[in-house]
Amino acid sequence: MTSDDLSALSLFPATPDQITEARRRTHLEWGKGLTLEEHLTRDANQDQFEGSLDGRLIIWVLAPRNDPQTLNFKCACETYVRQRLFKRIGLVANAHNKNGVETVPCYGIASVFTPPENRGKGFARHMMRLLHWVIADEALLPLALFPAAWGAPPPVVPGTRDGRFSALWSDVGEFYAACGPSPYQKGWVVRGTATTLWEVDASTSLVSAASSSGDWTWLDNAGLLKLWEEDAGEIRLAMEKVPLSGGASFTYLPTRGVASFQHRRLDLFLQRMPSPPQTWGVSSASKSTYATWVIDPRKPATSTLTVTRIHVADPVDQSFKDLLCKIFEIAKKHDVKRVEIWNLAAELQRLTEELGAKTFSREEHLPAFKWYGPESEEAVTWAFNERFCWC
Ligand SMILES: CC(C)(COP(=O)(O)OP(=O)(O)OC[C@H]1O[C@@H](n2cnc3c(N)ncnc32)[C@H](O)[C@@H]1OP(=O)(O)O)[C@@H](O)C(=O)NCCC(=O)NCCS
Repeated sequence: MTSDDLSALSLFPATPDQITEARRRTHLEWGKGLTLEEHLTRDANQDQFEGSLDGRLIIWVLAPRNDPQTLNFKCACETYVRQRLFKRIGLVANAHNKNGVETVPCYGIASVFTPPENRGKGFARHMMRLLHWVIADEALLPLALFPAAWGAPPPVVPGTRDGRFSALWSDVGEFYAACGPSPYQKGWVVRGTATTLWEVDASTSLVSAASSSGDWTWLDNAGLLKLWEEDAGEIRLAMEKVPLSGGASFTYLPTRGVASFQHRRLDLFLQRMPSPPQTWGVSSASKSTYATWVIDPRKPATSTLTVTRIHVADPVDQSFKDLLCKIFEIAKKHDVKRVEIWNLAAELQRLTEELGAKTFSREEHLPAFKWYGPESEEAVTWAFNERFCWC
């Protein structure tokens, strides 16, 4: 594709018919174990999740400027706006900001898909390059800088163009780094791929100790909602303490449907388990140590419990091991074969080696971020880069 051909295309929010078509196309890739009808129903159900309501989920299509509503669009993706226009839930700590931690709009991006017949022609790259121009804060990415070779900028969609950062979880390596807002700028940069993994059956020290570990509260959906509200406060406090010398730090918050999406999206599969799990977290009596998780039972993959958020008050006391024992109790109960934690803090990661885990750099679901502020990526820290904010 020449840039002339690409400039004839632009990015548009999908019509209802285009949304159905985009989802029909992804059935082969992301609908494994589901009929087409079940796949479409699951996606439609996700539209009703808290994180998708009130225009927070937008499906975008790359389509010809002269036929934006065609069902023959080139490719599509989704953005979860991590905020409603008036209720913002990302945080930024910036050395230049005297007012402390700021609450900011931010975005999560999912389901980038080009149908096989359109692949290898530069459509996904162009779609992702254009995406910055509909989500980034206008003051940080002014229209005057839009590359002329790409034609006119995409039409502005009300309620967008305010993002201070965005992220996606790449299954195609570093591809998104080449999707910058101009040919001279980087796109989404991979950061924080460490995965700590246990094989449950081989982890006898954690499994056998499971029933003897202290005073803990199991959390169901209602308990989790409360926990995440409190956790958002903890995250803010921690952000206020981040030492910054010229750089910036950002985080997503788990509230408002962001963290609950992790297990709710697998509901259809979880309900097929002999005894569907009802417990999605555990907290110490003092609420100072806690974890939440998702269980993915989909075959033929090995059933896995992934910790979505973990907070340990004191890494050197017994509470971390006790917390792991509680997690393994749930894993055993549901016949889960693997337990994994993404991007565990270094001091906890060291402890897990003694507890039989291996830590390695993951090759899929790679967290990748785009920072729209003036700082370079090297000067920006992604705080709380854990599974809870995946989408
Ligand atoms: C990944 C995908 C969106 C690319 O769409 P596309 O329109 O063909 O992309 P482009 O033509 O703009 O770019 C093609 C580039 O994609 C990259 N790519 C595609 N599949 C890849 C993979 N599995 N691993 C790494 N890179 C990959 C290649 O680097 C290729 O680069 P090249 O042009 O140097 O060969 C498309 O292959 C797809 O829909 N795949 C299935 C769904 C998927 O995996 N989506 C990504 C989820 S994060």
